[in-house]
Amino acid sequence: MNNRLTLLLCMLSFCLSASAQGQAKTPVQVSSPRCEMREDPLGIDILKPSFSWQITGSSRGIEQKAYQLLVASSAEKLADNNGDLWDSGKTPSSASVNVIYQGAALKSRMKCYWKVRVWTNKGDSEWTSPAFWSMGLLHPGDWKGRWIGMDHPSKGDSETQFSRLSARYFRKEFKTSKQVSSATAFIIGLGLYELYINGKKVGDQVLAPGPTDYNQSVKYNTFDVTACLSQGKNAIGTILGNGRFYTMRQAYKPYKIKTFGYPKMLMNLEISYSDGTKEVISTDDSWKMTAEGPIRTNNEYDGEEYDATKEMPGWNTAGFEDKSWQKAQFVQEAVGMPVAQMNENMKVMETVKPVSVRMLKPGVYILDMGQNMAGWIRMSVAGTRGQVVKLRFAETLQANGELFVRNLRDAKSTDQYTLKGGGKETWEPRFVYHGFRYVEISGYPGKPSVADFEGRVVYDDMQTSGRFLSSNETLNSIYKNAYWGIRSNYKGMPVDCPQRNERQPWLGDRTTGAYGESFLFDNGRLYTKWLDDIQQAQKPDGSIPDVAPAFWRYYSDNVTWPATYLTIADMIYQQYGDARPIAKHYPSMKKWMEYMEGQYMTDNLITKDKYGDWCVPPESKEMIFSKDPLRKTDGVLLATATYYKLLLLMRDFARLQNLKADAAVYEASAARLKTAFNNKFLNTGSMQYSNNSVTANLLPLSFGMVPGKDQARVFKNITDKIEITNNSHISTGVIGTQWLMRGLSANGRPDLAYRLATNRTYPSWGYMVENGATTIWELWNGNTADPSMNSQNHVMLLGDLMIWYYENLGGIKASAPGFKQLIMKPDFVQGLTHVDASYNSAYGIVKSNWTKTTGHFEWTITLPPNTTAQVYIPAENVGQLRESGQKLKDAEGVRFIRMEGSKALVGIGSGEYKFMVN
Ligand code: BGC
Repeated sequence: MNNRLTLLLCMLSFCLSASAQGQAKTPVQVSSPRCEMREDPLGIDILKPSFSWQITGSSRGIEQKAYQLLVASSAEKLADNNGDLWDSGKTPSSASVNVIYQGAALKSRMKCYWKVRVWTNKGDSEWTSPAFWSMGLLHPGDWKGRWIGMDHPSKGDSETQFSRLSARYFRKEFKTSKQVSSATAFIIGLGLYELYINGKKVGDQVLAPGPTDYNQSVKYNTFDVTACLSQGKNAIGTILGNGRFYTMRQAYKPYKIKTFGYPKMLMNLEISYSDGTKEVISTDDSWKMTAEGPIRTNNEYDGEEYDATKEMPGWNTAGFEDKSWQKAQFVQEAVGMPVAQMNENMKVMETVKPVSVRMLKPGVYILDMGQNMAGWIRMSVAGTRGQVVKLRFAETLQANGELFVRNLRDAKSTDQYTLKGGGKETWEPRFVYHGFRYVEISGYPGKPSVADFEGRVVYDDMQTSGRFLSSNETLNSIYKNAYWGIRSNYKGMPVDCPQRNERQPWLGDRTTGAYGESFLFDNGRLYTKWLDDIQQAQKPDGSIPDVAPAFWRYYSDNVTWPATYLTIADMIYQQYGDARPIAKHYPSMKKWMEYMEGQYMTDNLITKDKYGDWCVPPESKEMIFSKDPLRKTDGVLLATATYYKLLLLMRDFARLQNLKADAAVYEASAARLKTAFNNKFLNTGSMQYSNNSVTANLLPLSFGMVPGKDQARVFKNITDKIEITNNSHISTGVIGTQWLMRGLSANGRPDLAYRLATNRTYPSWGYMVENGATTIWELWNGNTADPSMNSQNHVMLLGDLMIWYYENLGGIKASAPGFKQLIMKPDFVQGLTHVDASYNSAYGIVKSNWTKTTGHFEWTITLPPNTTAQVYIPAENVGQLRESGQKLKDAEGVRFIRMEGSKALVGIGSGEYKFMVN
């Protein structure tokens, strides 16, 4: 009795003190203030930037009712609550993501300070702590100085087929006689740059800036370098590498490999002194340069060679003897307009240790990273001056243990380091990356050990946004392969592969891929940038290429690859709630749609296709492309169905902008196409489309082209084909696979989708795992096919698999743009007992963790404030359901809507919920 009383008293006092603590804080807080979805971005060039914030609080069902946003021209004004640039006032609104600036006109170089507070149904917040952003150089005339460089090769360079161009080093000394109050560096270094001030590297970016069609636009980066300057003598040093600017291949398919010229740069260092005066240090012919530095060549396909005996200690600090350097040349300005880089630069995102190193033959070793990856190796070595260590990279090994390099085509993928001698030296390349799992080391003094090497994983500096774990190991392994594949192929643009002599931003690889990837990585800014690349690649007549930036000049006028332009704008709206790309690109999309219709539409069918259902599983092990007419799908069908889908997207885009006449035109065209399509391809007896391939039936079914009464029979043709003809295996290529998993689930066969996802026999994603893949292959038969087109690290065959993981297995699906509302309706398939998925949306983290065994079901859901969800819980009746131990009607913030078959539909707001059925 006594013990009980003490326990009770303890509990009571705990509760009291907890609630006292709770009172000290406001019931809701606002955190993560983001401008253009970034934390305190510098040098942006968006004239009406967007603001987003996240709300936190312990009660359930938090909804924002109003916000107030202040933007001030100084930190002091903001602290005084003086929003001299913009005071939104208390604005009744539930918007907390992508709120658009409506204040005074923004000008070059302005630094803007902002904060926000919110009113919610569960109480009001304090102001956020101050955030800021700065404006870049908005007009070409804002740039002082000239472009500098050297418009010819230097001694030792070679411009034969395999271009070798040494890196160019630049330096400039200057004095600051007064106290510096702030200093900002704006730099355009083409193709790639590294910037140093007084010997220290500025920023942690690598392989910057982001690649573009440099004849259209060039990206500048902005840095606050106030802390780098010292009173008195200062020095700026820069290194320029080639990147995609200077061609990687010469005198060889010139139409395919574009060159933009020799590396060049424009830089402004704007200094403000405490006495109010200003000074700009800009690039001009007072700068010195040399091509005689240690980076002897840098070629993204072939590798980097670094000769440490040519190092120039102190070259980027004041007082360096630069008599042997030449004057920098004034060179022709870059053709493209300078624009601020709004997407993240690449960074070394992870450092991994190799799993083993073993001797292949005397002096030659094979290093195994245990994982196919993209980036490079950082190496430590000690030896005598002039010794040369070679690192060759490959994805796989031959049976004899040597590197297998035939699938790299003519990319040499070799780094070379010449030792300076005199102790331990640590080196990593600067201007190249490789796609590899294995490294052949030769010339290494002594015996290399794993401790001497590190793998540097390099890709765009974006957050990992999702997590997925399930009770099925095959699903988990495929997920891991997808994760590594996707991060490998983000290189300032989404490339097809990171290893062979290609590495091109192919549009068709990402049509739905980008959407699936968005669950794993916060890729909104990258894809927003890519839409600009695509727009810039459009020809005046409207044609859109298959690769953008169009480094390869492929304007083949098919529908399926350029369709990506529209589907990605839609993805950014649906997943991130940002409608601006749709509005921005709408005129160019419209132009392309009209161009395709004008050129290639006959009798309401689009007659042009190029790639077919790219990379279906072929009839024999070595083949790349199938010749079997039953495996392939008619190009006119692919083009017309896709074009139909795009017409409906255009209708939606038009409606979103209130362009009613356009919307009506698109809808009417779609109706005409649908009729023509069904007349041409649908066999009304067998209800088969065309040759009855899965893709041929799946596209019209997924796009809503099949008459309602016939849908079940068309779907039956699909499942028969998969189950009977293909022994429950996949038979689709890049196009069909984009709709396959969702199509099976949506039409009531999630079990079959699950079967395909967990197969370990050919062809399947699990077959890749079974055969040692640690990424996703380009071909279903990637372990046996001809190496001429057989990358081990392509993401296009993922199709809609990642979407299906999150939406159909995790139950995390946006039903209003940006995850303001969700539909949580997992497929509870036989054999899968557990899924634990989470996704970091713009509103905050969404979690879904369910376990289902015979007789027991449990589902924990977390929703961020200012969002709501409709949740489908498997139950025979509402009476079986409990939330945190309570009957539904007693559970706080839980609204029973209705029974739908064997599922209870329940509405919830933010908070954590534990649903249980016994
Ligand atoms: C690329 C693919 C691309 C295809 C289109 C291949 O070489 O690697 O990813 O979509 O070509 O032709």
